[in-house]
Amino acid sequence: MCGIVGYVGSREAAPILVEGLTRLEYRGYDSAGVAVLNGRGVETRKVAGRITALGELLTRTPVHGACGIGHTRWATHGAPSERNAHPHVDCTGTVALVHNGIIENAELLRARLERAGHRFATETDTETLAHLIEDAPGATFEERVIAGLAPVEGTYGLAVISEADPGKIVVARRGSPLLIGVGAGEYLVASDANAVLQRTRSVVYLNDGDIAVLTPLGYRVLDRAARVQDRAVDDIEWDLETLALGHYPHFMLKEICEQPDSVRATLRGRLLPDEGTARLDGLNLPPARCARVQRIVILGCGTSWHAGLVGRHVLEDLTGIPVSVEYASEYRYRKPLRLPGTLTVAISQSGETADTLEALRAAKAAGSTVIGIVNVVGSTIAREADGGIYLHAGPEIGVASTKAFTSQLVALLLFALYLGRQRGLALAAGRTLVRELERLPDLVGRTLELEPAVRALAERHGDARNALYLGRGVNFPVALEGALKLKEISYVHAEGYPAAEMKHGPIALIDENTPVVFVAPKDPVYAKVVSNMQEVKARGGRVVAITSEGNGDLRRLADHQLSVPATLPLLSPVLTVIPLQLLAYHIAVLRGCDVDRPRNLAKSVTVE
Ligand code: G6P
Repeated sequence: MCGIVGYVGSREAAPILVEGLTRLEYRGYDSAGVAVLNGRGVETRKVAGRITALGELLTRTPVHGACGIGHTRWATHGAPSERNAHPHVDCTGTVALVHNGIIENAELLRARLERAGHRFATETDTETLAHLIEDAPGATFEERVIAGLAPVEGTYGLAVISEADPGKIVVARRGSPLLIGVGAGEYLVASDANAVLQRTRSVVYLNDGDIAVLTPLGYRVLDRAARVQDRAVDDIEWDLETLALGHYPHFMLKEICEQPDSVRATLRGRLLPDEGTARLDGLNLPPARCARVQRIVILGCGTSWHAGLVGRHVLEDLTGIPVSVEYASEYRYRKPLRLPGTLTVAISQSGETADTLEALRAAKAAGSTVIGIVNVVGSTIAREADGGIYLHAGPEIGVASTKAFTSQLVALLLFALYLGRQRGLALAAGRTLVRELERLPDLVGRTLELEPAVRALAERHGDARNALYLGRGVNFPVALEGALKLKEISYVHAEGYPAAEMKHGPIALIDENTPVVFVAPKDPVYAKVVSNMQEVKARGGRVVAITSEGNGDLRRLADHQLSVPATLPLLSPVLTVIPLQLLAYHIAVLRGCDVDRPRNLAKSVTVE
C-alpha cells in the first residue's frame, strides 16, 4: 500500500527519495511523486504508474534541493492518476505533504474549507490536510501542523514541508507507521525501514500520536503539546544485500528458496532439548499465567489466517486448550466476549495490517492478554501486544507470503510446545518434538529439491482455468494456502477445501480439465484422503498428490506424485506447503504474470 520517504541533509534529495521509493515498490502502488524544497520554493514531480517513470521524469526535468518528501500511492479516494498522486499542496503551493492512511471526515473538512475559499485540485482525502495546515495558527511550522491536524478524524502517517521553513520536515503519526532514519548529518523519514537502509541502519520507531521535526542538525520527537519525548534508537537487523534479488528472477522464488534459513532463524536459540521445551523470551507469559489460560483466540488475515488454522490444530493437540481462529476483519465487528482466561494471538507478517491491529485492540479492550506473532520488528502489532514471538525470517518482499508462512508455523509450534509443557505435555513427547524441529531446516532444504518436478507439473497444468486443493486435518489449511497462492499470483481460480467436504459441492466441478491437488502426507487421516482421491479418479479428474516419503506408490490413483520428506504429522505443513508455493510460482511465470507485483494486491493492507 502507500509508502512514504523523506530526506533532509546535505545531499541532493531527489535521487535518495527515488531510491527509497523503489524499496517500497513491493508494497503495491499505482502512482508516485516527490516534492523538493529549494531556493525557488516547493517543486513537485508526479506520475501515474511506476517509479521508473518518475525517475525518467526527474532525469528530463530535475529538481534540486537537500530536503524533500516522496510517496507511492495505492488509490483509495480518487483514481490512480498523476493529479491524485502525492505530494499534495495547499492553495499557495508553499506547503507540500505526503500521507498514508484515510481521513474519515475528509468530505466535511473539504466542504468547510471550500466555503472558506480554498480551491481543491484533486479528489483525494489527503489534500484537505494541506489546506488545513495552510490556515492553521502557530509560531512554528510544527505548531501549525499540530493545529492543522486537530479537527482530523481517521489515520495518518504524514510528512510535510513548507517553503516558509526550508530544511525542515515535520512528520506526524496516528494509526499509520512511521520511523526516522538517523544518519550522519542527515535524517530520513519512512513508513518502512527498507526505505532508509540505503543511508542508515539506525532507526527510531514513532509511537501513535508522535510529531517529529527533522532538520540537517537533528531530530526531535514531540507530543501534541509540543513537549519533547524520549524515543529509543534501534538497529535494523538486515542490510541492503538482503533486499537484493541476487541471482533469482523474482523475490518470491528467492524467498521460497530461503526457507531453510528462515526456518532456522525462527528456531535459533529457542529449543531446549533436555527440558523438551522452547524458550520464548519475548512471550511475557510466565508459568502462572500459562496455567490460567482457558481459551485461545487466533486473529489474522490472508496467509496469516491460514497459519492460524494450522496453529489451532497444533495448539489443541499439544495443550488441550480450545482454540478458535478468526478473520480479524470479522472479529473486530462482533460483540466482544469478555471471557476470563482468554489469550489472544494476533498473527501478522507485517505487524501493520489494519484489521488485525484493530482486532487486537478490541481483544485488549475486552480484557484479553494479547500476544503477537510478527515478522517486522518494531511494527505496531509487535509494540501493542503484551508479548510475542518475532519470526526473524528477514524482510519478505514478494507480495505473496511464503517464508513468513513457514516461519509462522514454526513459531506456533514453538508456542504450542512451550504452553503444552506447562500444561502437562510429557517430557518424552516434548523431547521428540524438539528433535524433529531441529531437523526441520534440513528437511525444508530437501523439499526444495522437488523444484524441477514441480516446474514440470506447472508446464503440464499451466493452462487450467480452475483448480481444487484438498487436504484434511492439519493439512487442510495448507490446501487453502496452496489455492490462495495460485489465485494471488497467476489469477487462476482455485479453491481449497477439506477433502471430505468435496462431496458436498466441489465434486460437481471435477472434469478432465480441473487439476485436483491433494495434500496427503503420512498422518492419521492419510487413508481417508486416499479414499477421496479415488472419488476424484472415478470421475475422470486429474489428481496431483503431495505426499510424504515412505507413503508408497500412488501412481494408480495420481497422475503426479510429489513426496516431501517424512516428519511428525504436526510439522508436516511446513514441508507440504513448499511444493504448492513453487507450483503457484511456476504457473504464474508460465502465464507471464508479474509475480512480485500481482495486480490489485498490496503487501501490507493498512486500510480496512
Ligand atoms: C495481504 C498480503 C498477504 C498477507 C495478508 C496479511 O493481503 O498480500 O500476503 O497474508 O495481507 O498480512 P500480514 O502482514 O498481516 O500477515
